[in-house]
Order: sequence, then structure tokens, then C-alpha cells
Amino acid sequence: MPRPLRSRMICLGIETSCDETSVGVWRPGHGPRDVVHSQIPMHAVFGGVVPELASREHLRQLDALVQTVVRDENLGLHEVDMIAVTRGPGLLGALLVGIAYAKSLALALEIPIVGVNHLHAHLLACEFVEPIEYPALGLLVSGGHTHLYWMQSSLDFELVGRTLDDAAGEAFDKIAKILNLPYPGGKYIDVLAEEGRADPRLFTRPYLNNSNCDFSFSGLKTAVAQYVASHDLPRIDYADFRVDAVPAPIKDLCASVNLTIVQTLLEKSRRALVAHPQARTLCVAGGVAANSMVRREFSRFATLHGLKFLVPDQNYCGDNGAMIAYTGQRIAARGLASALDFEAIPRGKHVPNDYIVNPFFKE
Ligand code: KG4
Ligand code: ZN
Repeated sequence: MPRPLRSRMICLGIETSCDETSVGVWRPGHGPRDVVHSQIPMHAVFGGVVPELASREHLRQLDALVQTVVRDENLGLHEVDMIAVTRGPGLLGALLVGIAYAKSLALALEIPIVGVNHLHAHLLACEFVEPIEYPALGLLVSGGHTHLYWMQSSLDFELVGRTLDDAAGEAFDKIAKILNLPYPGGKYIDVLAEEGRADPRLFTRPYLNNSNCDFSFSGLKTAVAQYVASHDLPRIDYADFRVDAVPAPIKDLCASVNLTIVQTLLEKSRRALVAHPQARTLCVAGGVAANSMVRREFSRFATLHGLKFLVPDQNYCGDNGAMIAYTGQRIAARGLASALDFEAIPRGKHVPNDYIVNPFFKE
């Protein structure tokens, strides 16, 4: 017989949507906790994530990570009140590994399970810093998504803008590849851009000649490819990459790319704010929220518009189990859970909010 669930509960969070296996714990009065096993070195040799390898690696790592996090937190598995797991969007095979594991554990421990929207979880990780004051505007910038949300509560996210093709992170990574930078290239462009001089007129800020809040970054990638093909730029040695060895013209190019992407994100966020002037908080999250210029410029933008600005610490911008545990706990604290037959949602498909009332929840 399942035990009653309290609103102050210990939640284990499992994240396997892409190339990081992570398990986190959320419990009241403690900060975010998790362990992450990154698969990046494994995929880097292929220049991108290989889905089948990702699934197999999640399967190899997951159980050991659960044991580690539980031990590190001085918890017994029997003390865990609920399980949260990334439901999507992500790589289908990779998601299935985490979901099958999480469902089995929930069944064995007789505790509820919550399937979490990975994108919402990124934004709710802003609450690791301070509470979000709703309503809020949320910019989610990750490797696979660039979404603008109108957020009315931790469960009520309305999409007001999205990328039509490449996401901002994808643009960073593809452009980095053109420049022969290591994978994933976003953080390398960031570091090099900080040392370069941007030319704001070098690249057109993409997809602004409209009145919407959507994004399209694939044209920028093409523009950079054309620029590189038509200029005699020094070649970077990928195998022996060192920031101080990168020639100034490449640093300047990175600075121009970085500026173009950030200015585009700012302009579309400005439009979303015009459409939703009641916003009290601006949240920026996802892998690209680790970018130095994104953090600086969005902080300035929020101040200018009188908004509270929240961005997770850099180590919580990427994929992590703590944000999944936290989001699951927020959903469960409303007396909701997932039915045990919930399915994985691959990238490009809508993740439904089809929670059910948890009959064992006690306020
Ligand atoms: O959220 P995330 O860890 O994974 C997904 O859910 O996709 O985001 C990964 C993305 C990659 O495209 C990576 O290059 C980008 O975030 N990224 C950055 C930086 N750090 C990670 N992009 C720009 N500047 C950074 N400092
Ligand atoms: Zn992510």
C-alpha cells in the first residue's frame, strides 16, 4: 500500500534525454544536488551525438549514479517519496532508458512517478537562485530548442515563440564545426568571443523582418560558412586546441557570431515582453544561458524593463537531474502525478500536461 505523500517530500530526479546521464535529489531545506556523467568525450570523436551510443551509455551509467547520489546524500532508497524522470523532448531511445528505469523503481518502492517536461525543468532551475515571481517571461535556449514562454505558474507555460529550424545552441555548435572548434562548440565560441572584437554589421540578425517571436538560425550558419569560404582565415588545429593559440581574426569572427545570436535573442524577447507587459520576472535557462554575453546582456535588458532577472548558475544551465527532481516535486506538491503508462516524447513533439490526481497526496 503506497504511503501518503506530503507536500514536503524527497524527490529523486532522472535525466537521460540527450548526452548527459544525471541523477538528482530535491529535498526541502537543501539546495540542488546531483551527479552527472557526461558522454561528450564519447560523442566528440563523431562531431555530434550518436543516439544509439547515447542510449547504451545511459543504460550502463544510470543505476550506479542512483546509488552514488543516494549514498552522497545519506539517504536510503526507502526514504525517497517520489521519482521524477525526463519524459521529453529528447532522443527517443535515450528517454526510454531513463523512463523504464524510473518506472521500475517507482513500482518497486511503491511511490508515485512524475514524467517531467525537460524544457520546463530548465526554466524552473532558475528557482535554485530565487523564487520566480509570476507571471514571467521565459527564454529557453538549449542545444535543441529556442523557446519563449509566457509562464503563469510552475505548471502553466504558454509557448509564444519557437525556432523554425536550428536552435541557438545548434547554431553555435554548427558554426563552431565550420571553424574547426571542438564539440560542442558553444562554450568555445563564448570564450573566444570574449577576447575578440565584434563587427555588428558582419552578419544580418536572422529572421527579424516580421512581427513574430519565432527564431530561425539556419541562415546565420550559412552566412558564416560563406564568409569562411570566401576569406583566407587561419586554420585552427582541432586536436591541439588552446584559446591563446587561436588567431585574432577567428576570435573576432566568434565575437561577431556571438553578438548576432545574442542580439537576435534580445530582440525577440523584447517583442514577447511588448505582448506581455505584465511580466514580473525574466528567466533565461538551458545550455546557452551559460554564455557570458547572454548573461550580461539579459541582465541589463531585465534591469532596463524593471524585471527580476533569473538565470541558473552556470553548472545548472546544462542538463542535470536536480532540475528534474525539483520540477517533479513542484508538480507532486500540487497533488498531481503521472499514470504509470506515460510515454516518452521525442524531440519535435508536444509534451502533454496529462497529470492525474494523486490519491495518496496529503496537504
Ligand atoms: O541544455 P543543454 O545542456 O542540452 C540540451 O538540452 O540541448 O544545451 C546544450 C547546448 C549546446 O548547443 C552547447 O553548445 C550550448 O548549450 N552551450 C553554450 C555554452 N555552453 C553550452 N552555448 C553558448 N555559450 C556557452 N557558454
Ligand atoms: Zn537540456
